[in-house]
Amino acid sequence: MIIAIDGPAAAGKGTLARRLAAHFGYPHLDTGALYRAVARRLLEAGGDPADADAALAAARLVTADELDDPRLRDEAVGRATSIVSAHPAVRAALLDFQRRFAHAGPGAVLDGRDIGTVVCPDAGAKLFVTASPEARAARRAKELRDRGVPAIDARVLQDIKERDARDSSRSAAPLAQAADAYVLDTTQLDPDGALAAALAYIATRET
Ligand code: CDP
Ligand code: CDP
Repeated sequence: MIIAIDGPAAAGKGTLARRLAAHFGYPHLDTGALYRAVARRLLEAGGDPADADAALAAARLVTADELDDPRLRDEAVGRATSIVSAHPAVRAALLDFQRRFAHAGPGAVLDGRDIGTVVCPDAGAKLFVTASPEARAARRAKELRDRGVPAIDARVLQDIKERDARDSSRSAAPLAQAADAYVLDTTQLDPDGALAAALAYIATRET
């Protein structure tokens, strides 16, 4: 079964995706890391994220083994990522890799913004993971502080709101809830609670 997980920034997509992948023994692809790798390459080369040709050139160079690079998590990279990922040519360049990953074995878990809508519209289970902007900003700020990066909740909240607005309003594969997705609001849930709710939903899809 392909499990598609979409939602806004810091909603808990990755945490849930990793746990579901471990539970079912499926491989997991963090598709945000693909787009982050494009942005990081572009910034490193001194390119402008708004330049579609430069972004496409960076997208063509991205390989699977740079997806664990901790530098992809920098907030500057996150901001540039939502600009490079709005270029249709960049999205098209990454589509094939994502679809091949999804269909390579008996199952897979992919998380991102457009998995249930564009990458895998045929996924057996689709989750739209969300949480209040304030809860998401507090989680992301804590994550940054844990990594030794000074972070102010209010500033992180503003960044997250800007990124969500850009991701939702772009014309190419915007962040959107698939009509047949199960909405999982994690504002009041810890990762164990989110996993339990997701497993209960997936069980209804297996029968
Ligand atoms: O971890 P967080 O939710 O903050 O972000 P991410 O999943 O790493 O994604 C970073 C950015 O990549 C998002 O803000 C989107 O602009 C873009 N992205 C996308 O356009 N499509 C995807 N399938 C995944 C990410
Ligand atoms: O992938 P995404 O950006 O949607 O979020 P994440 O990286 O899975 O989660 C962001 C942060 O929120 C992490 O530090 C998680 O430990 C935390 N989290 C949480 O507090 N409660 C949840 N139900 C899920 C995640």
